[in-house]
Amino acid sequence: MLTRFSLLGFLFGFLFVGVTCTTPILEVSPCSAGFTKIPDAFIIYDGSSLATQTTSVELCHGAHALVLNITCADRNILTPFKKCNDPLFKASAVEFFITPETADGAWDQHHYLELETSPNGMLFLSHITNHNLDCTNFAGSYIDCNQSGIVVEAAADIPQAVWKTHLEIPWTTMMPEGVTPRATPTVWRANLYRIAFPKGHTEYSCWQPTKTLCFHQPLTFARLVMK
Ligand SMILES: *[C@@H]1O[C@H](CO)[C@@H](O)[C@H](O)[C@H]1NC(C)=O
Ligand SMILES: *[C@@H]1O[C@H](CO)[C@@H](O)[C@H](O)[C@H]1NC(C)=O
Repeated sequence: MLTRFSLLGFLFGFLFVGVTCTTPILEVSPCSAGFTKIPDAFIIYDGSSLATQTTSVELCHGAHALVLNITCADRNILTPFKKCNDPLFKASAVEFFITPETADGAWDQHHYLELETSPNGMLFLSHITNHNLDCTNFAGSYIDCNQSGIVVEAAADIPQAVWKTHLEIPWTTMMPEGVTPRATPTVWRANLYRIAFPKGHTEYSCWQPTKTLCFHQPLTFARLVMK
């Protein structure tokens, strides 16, 4: 009996480790073929439950840019910010962190683009250098929104409790500072986050849960494969 249970335990342990270590993959269609919808619902950052303020993300890849259409259910749309690189994370926001793979499966985990956007179409853009792969030691280098080449179109509908944003992010803007690839990378690492304020508390949710209340966890990034 003991041997049988040990074997079962071993097998379950193996399966569990196998599942948790696998990086999720999303195959993204070319814009000429339509959008790919992220099938997963956003979950609370610690992985405990589904977000109450839902986020639906569709994306596609064009010649010059990655295109995202994001729809946020939001009972309490807060959008006080008016300038490029204002601290959008202090009000209703979506965040997108992304960096390219440099070779099959290889990537620079310490450098990625942080993009935040708000219901009134403001942007916060920063090239992040994250030394410890968490929130203990990272720094950002701001990108001028007008120089970024990013197209953003946002609309908020307060009575319908929804805001939407359309983003076109040039491939070049998503490259780490000083890195110029010979060709546009076809595989990227990314995660998406949401900050909402239902009933006066803050709800932090994400596509891939960060486990701790720190979105700067590049090891949680999923793979985006441009098909
Ligand atoms: C994406 O957003 C654009 C701009 O708002 C809109 O014209 C288009 O219909 C959207 N596409 C999808 C599939 O939602
Ligand atoms: C960016 O463009 C907007 C709209 O054209 C303009 O109001 C703003 O002054 C520009 N900001 C910078 C830093 O150039």
